[in-house]
Amino acid sequence: MTGPDDRHTPQVVPTMRTSPSPVALRLRAVRKTYQVGDNEIVALDHADLDVADGEIVALVGPSGSGKTTLCSIAGGLLRATSGTVEVGGRDITGRSAAELTEFRRTSVGFVFQTVNLVPFLTARENLLVVDELAGRQRRGRRAAGKRADELLGELGLTDRAANLPAQLSGGQRQRVAIGRALMNDPALVLFDEPTSALDSQLGDQVVGLIREEMKSRGTSAIIVTHDERITHYADRTVRIEDGRLSQ
Ligand SMILES: Nc1ncnc2c1ncn2[C@@H]1O[C@H](COP(=O)(O)OP(=O)(O)O)[C@@H](O)[C@H]1O
Ligand SMILES: [Mg+2]
Repeated sequence: MTGPDDRHTPQVVPTMRTSPSPVALRLRAVRKTYQVGDNEIVALDHADLDVADGEIVALVGPSGSGKTTLCSIAGGLLRATSGTVEVGGRDITGRSAAELTEFRRTSVGFVFQTVNLVPFLTARENLLVVDELAGRQRRGRRAAGKRADELLGELGLTDRAANLPAQLSGGQRQRVAIGRALMNDPALVLFDEPTSALDSQLGDQVVGLIREEMKSRGTSAIIVTHDERITHYADRTVRIEDGRLSQ
């Protein structure tokens, strides 16, 4: 590829990226089917979606439209039947189960509809367990404690740090779940109906807090919701119906 004419020409080699602009999440032609008995259910079809670095996207659609499926595929919990999934410029399509586990531990955060905190651990311990599950010393125990305390402070939970989940309100539990999702400094956080168990005022507060936390870190997010009001906290709204996205 180097001809004689090229030899003395100084070459500026651009940094090669898989994407022309920084993209936290890129789905291309993603399809997901579930086999139930003799029936094939198409949960997601022809899904193309880009979430830019630092961007918050609201994903809105009726029950059964494929929202949880999309989040699960974006976060490496489920494999797409076909299509490609890139997170932070890394293609996670076709990764092994072990690679996906590592990817989930280091690169994404999840906040689910049903808050799945560990019931016998305190709020603070529910954050620290992220580091322990990582199974390696990503940072010292003291640094992890400091990080947990910072997050609990930002989320207004300092005086609830020693409470068990059962001793917290619904909104407080959801805030602990947000803190836990941020412990590993993910570039992308997936919120699957984070406010559906909360009354609307509390829901607004929690999503306001989510926006603050994401924007202060430049973290990208998808927030799944039924609630149109919550879309005001997002930079952009994407709709989904019968497994098809429209934006
Ligand atoms: N594990 C599964 N097995 C079979 N069908 C499923 C499974 N998970 C979801 N589905 C079906 O896929 C479609 C999309 O589901 P889901 O992604 O959970 O939608 P949403 O989160 O928008 O309610 C629905 O028709 C649902 O019944
Ligand atoms: Mg769902």
